[in-house]
Amino acid sequence: MKTVILGIESSCDDTSAAVVADGILLSNVIASQQVHEEYGGVVPELASRAHQQNIVPVVDAAIRRAGISKADLSAIAFTRGPGLLGSLLVGTSFAKGLSLGLRIPIVDVNHLHGHVLSHFVRETPDGRVPTFPYLCLLVSGGNSQLILVKGYNDMEILGRTIDDAAGEAFDKCAKVMGLPYPGGPYIDRLAAEGDARRFKFAKPHIQGLDYSFSGLKTSFLYTLRDGIKADADFIEKNKADLAASLQATIIAILLDKLEKAVRQTGVKTVAIGGGVSANSGVRAAVADFCAAHELEAFIPERKFTTDNAAMVAIAGYFKYLDGIFCPYDSTPYARVEV
Ligand code: KG4
Repeated sequence: MKTVILGIESSCDDTSAAVVADGILLSNVIASQQVHEEYGGVVPELASRAHQQNIVPVVDAAIRRAGISKADLSAIAFTRGPGLLGSLLVGTSFAKGLSLGLRIPIVDVNHLHGHVLSHFVRETPDGRVPTFPYLCLLVSGGNSQLILVKGYNDMEILGRTIDDAAGEAFDKCAKVMGLPYPGGPYIDRLAAEGDARRFKFAKPHIQGLDYSFSGLKTSFLYTLRDGIKADADFIEKNKADLAASLQATIIAILLDKLEKAVRQTGVKTVAIGGGVSANSGVRAAVADFCAAHELEAFIPERKFTTDNAAMVAIAGYFKYLDGIFCPYDSTPYARVEV
């Protein structure tokens, strides 16, 4: 009999459900929430209400597209945290209710573990997957971490951001440039047409493998602002060069610590994950770095970089195989490290 896992992701503003059978992805449905666009950021209360509307049709579609029925499920994996509490509560409560109805276990998944294990999401049995140990650069809207992955359920954080995450650096700088939220993809597009050497922004001097992006943000602001007012003309004329220089600085900061971590650990495999790993510059820089150092690179398909339930289902699958289940009295958590 196959091990069939339903994954549910509701940590932020995407409601997603996926089905994995014996480690192979059968379906992955994502309902993104447009309601936040006009606010320039995710509004937690609106997010949880939208999750409540979306969760039943999204799970239903995932099961149908997988060509299975509810009775085929072995367990339900859900994101328990970190994320927005109200949003997490929708997925957690739904997973508990459905599992009680079907008399199958629940498996809680750390959202960050999901990103790290997203490289094991395979749509065909011959898909390439990393071998342990590997180093994962996890770069998202809320986290920037260097993680040594020793096994499916055995990870060690080697470095983390002490202030902003890489995605926040993209988004906050984009916001002062007047770009829509989230600004990362807009910077990515603009950067392709700009001169990355035009502007110089501050880089951090932090010991060890930790990251910092707040100094970069401040120096970006100073370049843009005359007094406290953003100079709209200056931004308009220089937006491509600003974006290219910003992106290049973020990449340099990320790669500097990645290189140190590779030297310290001696790993032969490097993976990236999280929303910022969709960035064209980050992807190219990591691929070039790995080629130059004879490392095997794992760059996720763009659809698996942002929040999705496929990664939750696969992380849940590996916990299920190790017999790690979740009690019914467990509650979501907003913040946690790997
Ligand atoms: O992992 P993720 O979906 O969720 C959160 O942690 O919130 O990451 C979202 C982040 C945002 O900061 C967004 O701007 C960034 O990923 N992002 C990008 C790109 N696509 C998404 N940043 C730079 N370039 C991109 N192409």
